[in-house]
Amino acid sequence: MKITEHPGRSLGATVEGFDPADASDADVEALKRTVYTRKIAVLKGQHLSPRQFLDLGRRLGRPETYYEPMYHHPEFEEIFVSSNVPENGRQIGVPRTGAFWHADYQFMPDPFGITLIHPQVVPEKNRGTYFIDMGRAYDSLSEGLKKEIAGTYCRHSVRKYFKIRPHDVYRPLSEIVDEVERRTPAVRQPTTFVHPLTGETVLYISEGFTVGIEDADGRPLDEQLLGRLLEATGQLDDTFEHDGIHLQTFEQGDLLIWDNRSLVHRARHTTTPEPAVSHRVTVHDGRKLHDGIRLP
Ligand SMILES: [Fe+2]
Repeated sequence: MKITEHPGRSLGATVEGFDPADASDADVEALKRTVYTRKIAVLKGQHLSPRQFLDLGRRLGRPETYYEPMYHHPEFEEIFVSSNVPENGRQIGVPRTGAFWHADYQFMPDPFGITLIHPQVVPEKNRGTYFIDMGRAYDSLSEGLKKEIAGTYCRHSVRKYFKIRPHDVYRPLSEIVDEVERRTPAVRQPTTFVHPLTGETVLYISEGFTVGIEDADGRPLDEQLLGRLLEATGQLDDTFEHDGIHLQTFEQGDLLIWDNRSLVHRARHTTTPEPAVSHRVTVHDGRKLHDGIRLP
């Protein structure tokens, strides 16, 4: 196994010669270390069946099954499918997922640490996923802004981007909104936390899921503060030219593994979508999102 850091960038490493079928525990540990230190690992030459992909995920942690079944792979519910390519006339998974800045499961009480993506059908032109390193983004904030957010909390919710399911057709919107709020009430997390595996401070906000910022007692703070934070990190830049934005491209046979604690990401979809299919496995890596989380 050969690990090469992407030169001139703080993010990304290429991993060659990794065979999930006979990787040693030491190989898996080295891979995980790379995911934490370089944030994104691109494994080359992977052509895994859904079962093999899920098995690789299990080597890295405990898979989390997505809470909405319409995203599930027909055979392996732990695999989340993003696809705009019907199979035998049938829609598998959900098309055009994640086209907004977010961290996976940020709106849930117990987000997982690692995301794995195995692209199956790779677009010809607009391939790749945008990333922002929110550890580095925190470091780059002005001292004034850092002070302003010290001790504050943010609320995260799926409400802005919840996707209507086939069985929601003909339901009143208010009923769907009520259901979303009941099943996935907004969760509160500290605005910044210490990454339990790297020790860095992470600014844990996203344009897609963060719906409010408040003080320690739950009193809402000026919405503009959240806007200023999103702006500073590059999440409001529609040109994607902000310094903090990294476009990670991939090709057929690549498998991406990333640190879901410190990265926010955004799928690259265009108005004229090309065929694209990817499989996703997400895993808990033995630690909570941060050490302040205590679940019942
Ligand atoms: Fe995502």
